[in-house]
Amino acid sequence: MPDTPITIAIDGPSGSGKSSVSRQVARQLGLSYLDTGAMYRALTWWCLQQGVDLTDSQEVAEQARTFPLEIGTDPDAPTVHVGGTDVAAAIRETSVSEQVSHIATNLEVRATMRDQQRQLIADARHAGSGIVVEGRDITTVIAPDAEHRFLLTASEEARLARRAKELFSSDDAEAIEATHDQIVRRDAADATVSAFFEPAPGVVGIDTSDLTFEQSVAAVLDAVHAASAHPPVHTPDDGGNR
Ligand code: DC
Repeated sequence: MPDTPITIAIDGPSGSGKSSVSRQVARQLGLSYLDTGAMYRALTWWCLQQGVDLTDSQEVAEQARTFPLEIGTDPDAPTVHVGGTDVAAAIRETSVSEQVSHIATNLEVRATMRDQQRQLIADARHAGSGIVVEGRDITTVIAPDAEHRFLLTASEEARLARRAKELFSSDDAEAIEATHDQIVRRDAADATVSAFFEPAPGVVGIDTSDLTFEQSVAAVLDAVHAASAHPPVHTPDDGGNR
């Protein structure tokens, strides 16, 4: 467990393995865990429940500011409640997955999410050892000053096969075809507002295409330990950035 609070930011496209890897890294390091995608999904679920037109960007932005979201950051039992209802399972349903990009590409929504996510990070750092935060814009926008920043990538083929197995317990041709929309179209839409296919300067890229889950977790932990043992030296002309 680290002596001083740390933030580990992990971005990546769908199917890169970032959610399961982030959660396991948090567990092993005794850190909190925040799935920022769950926040966009929860807002999508709420707007669908309320009958809000997802293309009405002003109304959706207003809902983002006021909707009753409670998010739990224990990596052993991360929770998502909206207005007291447990929505952890509902936000993974296809109806939400198909619509969430409308919400995630709304720039006013993103500004509200940014403030909420930064507050959750500050709370976790204040209360404990820190937090692992995963999403699409964590390394670049939400926490560019995080102590450790990673971009998990994988080939489109590997990402499709993983998500098909998750959704349909199969990676045959039919399952891959049914998964295509959720991976390729959604990432293309989301990539219009965040850059998560190439690591930004200072962000460590890890290609998980040929790695098992355990190897992916080990790759992140090894890099965290190596950077903690040899913290980067800032020079006066790098503005303190890595
Ligand atoms: O990781 P996920 O599939 O649960 O993310 C749900 C949606 O939210 C997806 O369309 C990408 C978007 N998202 C985002 O734009 N920024 C984040 N930090 C996290 C998720």
